This record gives sequence, C-alpha cells and structure tokens, in this order.
Amino acid sequence: MATEKWVLMVTAQTPTNIAVIKYWGKRDEVRILPVNDSISVTLDPDHLCTVTTVAVSPAFDRDRMWLNGKEISLSGSRYQNCLREIRSRAGDVEDKEKGIKIGKEDWKKLHLHIASHNNFPTAAGLASSAAGFACLVFSLAKLMNVDEDPSHLSAIARQGSGSACRSLFGGFVKWTMGSKEDGSDSVAVQLADEKHWDDLVIIIAVVSSRQKETSSTSGMRESVETSLLLQHRAKEVVPKRILQMEEAIKNRDFASFTQLTCTDSNQFHAVCLDTSPPIFYMNDTSHRIISLVEKWNRSEGTPQVAYTFDAGPNAVLIARNRKVAVQLLQGLLYYFPPKSDTDMKSYVVGDNSILKEAGLDGASGVENLQPPPEIKDNIGSQDQKGEVSYFICTRPGKGPIVLHDQTQALLNPETGLPK
Ligand code: DP6
Repeated sequence: MATEKWVLMVTAQTPTNIAVIKYWGKRDEVRILPVNDSISVTLDPDHLCTVTTVAVSPAFDRDRMWLNGKEISLSGSRYQNCLREIRSRAGDVEDKEKGIKIGKEDWKKLHLHIASHNNFPTAAGLASSAAGFACLVFSLAKLMNVDEDPSHLSAIARQGSGSACRSLFGGFVKWTMGSKEDGSDSVAVQLADEKHWDDLVIIIAVVSSRQKETSSTSGMRESVETSLLLQHRAKEVVPKRILQMEEAIKNRDFASFTQLTCTDSNQFHAVCLDTSPPIFYMNDTSHRIISLVEKWNRSEGTPQVAYTFDAGPNAVLIARNRKVAVQLLQGLLYYFPPKSDTDMKSYVVGDNSILKEAGLDGASGVENLQPPPEIKDNIGSQDQKGEVSYFICTRPGKGPIVLHDQTQALLNPETGLPK
C-alpha cells in the first residue's frame, strides 16, 4: 500500500459552547473526569466554530497537525489519547470511486494529516479548545467510519479537553460526571436542540486584557488542591442547581435560567478567589458589565439578560429575545464605545444585522445613543473607549456537521498538505 498515492479526507465543522453551570475541577486528571455535572449552550457555528480537515494516505510517514496554518506537535498526551481511542474504534472504509479500500486493521499502520482553523481569533480568549477537540474527534470518526453515537464520541473528545465533550451536540447540553473509574459514563447528552428556545440572543463582549490568564487546566487543579468552597460547591450546590437548570431549560423559564446562570458564574469566580493563591479572571470591565446587567434586570422587575464569564474577562450575555438584545447592545455601545477610528461593522461582528435594528448601521453613530434610562449615571461615565475589543452577536446553534463542499477543505486533496 505504501507506494500508492491516494489521499482520502473529510472536513467537518464544530461549534463552541458556553457553560451556564460550570465545570471546574477534575477528580481524574488523565482521563479528564470532572467533580460535578455541567450544562452548556452551544453557540451558532456560523459565528464561532472550528473547521477541521483530516486526511489519510499511505504516502504519509507520520501523524501531523496544523492549527490556524502553523504546524503544531501532536506529542502531548491529550492528542495522543484522542488519536488512540478513535483509532481503536475505526471500521472498514471503501471509496469505490477512487478505488480505495481500508480494512479495520490498516488504520493502525496508516498516518494522518490534520488541519484545523477557528473562525474567530484564538487570542480573544474564547474557548477554542472545546470546538477544536470536538472537531478533531468528530471528523476522524467520519473518516474512519467509527460506528458510535455522539455521546460515545463525547467521551473521547472529553479526553482532549473537558468542555469539548459538550460541543458534540447543538442546543442545550449536559455533561454527566459519571461514577465509573474508567470514565465510560462521563459523557455529554443533549437536553434540547437549538430550536427549542430560539428567542434567545447571545452577545459576547470580548474584553481587552493585558495580563496573561492562568489556563483553565492549571487553575482548576489549584482550586481542587486548595479551595474548600469548591468541595462544597461540587457536593452540595451543583447537584441541585443542575436539576433546576434542566427544569428551567425545559420550560423556557428565563427568570430561573438567568438566576441560575448568573449565580453559578459568580460562584465559579468565588471559587477562583478561594483558591490559594487566588485567581482573578474577571477585571474592572467585567465587573462594570455585571453591574449594568444587574441594575437593568432589577429595574425591569423580571430578568432580561443573563451573564456568564469563563476563565477570562469576556462577558457572555444572553438576552431573553431580540428586542431586549437590541436595547442591550445600545446600552453596551453607549458605555463601551469603540475607539474613534473603529467602524461599527468591525466592532459588532457575527450576526451584525442587529446593528440596523439598533439604528447604528447608517451615518448615525454611538454619539447619538441614549442608555436605558434606569441605569443612566449608575455605572460610571461614557469614557471607556477601548475597554471592549469588539462584540460578537450570536444565538444558540447546531452541533457538528460534515462539510461536503471540497472548496472548504483545509488540505490539498492531491498532496494532503495545507492549501
Ligand atoms: C471555565 O475544558 O478548558 O470554561 O478540561 O483542562 O481542558 P480542561 O479545561 P477546559 O475548562 C473549561 C472551564 C470553564 C467552564 C466550562 O466550560 O464548563
């Protein structure tokens, strides 16, 4: 087979996700088994996703990977664990058109080329590893004809990065911590698909930050070792919260959803503060965004917007509907205007059709905006140019898909090298 020249490849797209009940802490570092269940919302891959092309050829002499155009090493244990697990489940593959036949056993000898690309800046601090490992596992499963359902695949993606297991599904997803030592029951399941609650609009504020943050992996290790609050959270708080969140999602109960989402984000950051030495992920801008949302929700009487923050200062804001999202964006742009030389279309990206509804797509600029009256003068003046790098407007989205259009492939179909 080594003299043959064929290349067989698959390209797939996988979404990223934001946890509304957070995963923070492992009980097994190698298998990546968490100390509590978590729940997430999958974000629309049109705005945030990873695209990965995986290829196999008898001409390849070793496994290789390119991330955003740069070759990276696959020697780390997380990549090795995912590759080993997926190879061990490979099936027979036949491409009659190309005259290619790969037997189950051949996969152990064949090498892979992998190219992966995020459609959002990796430096923005948005969970790129979740979409990345989910896409790696999903595309390899398709290439190798792995006959497993998405939950089984999620247990493989989990070994690349915990949060990746939740990116195997669209909509609302639960990662069940499981109890078995081998981790086989620590899998993701879909609670509801993306159409179940399609009023929701998500606005992400990518907050400028000068400091290099502690990685989730080492941050949660330190919390497990030193935070008593983490033990209490995992044992007493999260199990009840998970049930309440499942109920809130099922009933599209935005008030409960918001209360649970905000409280859980705040508790996660409290655990970070309770870690020794303490970890600070949010900054002053994050805190100002929280104040703005809290004040607005309070003044309305019923919650309009939920906020949640991961291991960094970026705010993920979930508005109950489009009308609220328009008002939210107006308020955000009033308090966090772009630098004078930034045009609005590059300051609000993703689904920026919302700019039109906010009256900001034409000549009229942020100067003419009025903040929601209830929160005026309450969170500081309008002098915060540059605190937010940009906003991404998105919504709950679908799970992984195969991209059949060859022009979207990241590897050359003749050579198997990056295009
Ligand atoms: C704060 O999945 O990035 O985003 O499993 O070590 O790769 P590893 O960590 P990772 O942690 C995510 C933590 C979080 C909360 C969440 O997504 O649930």
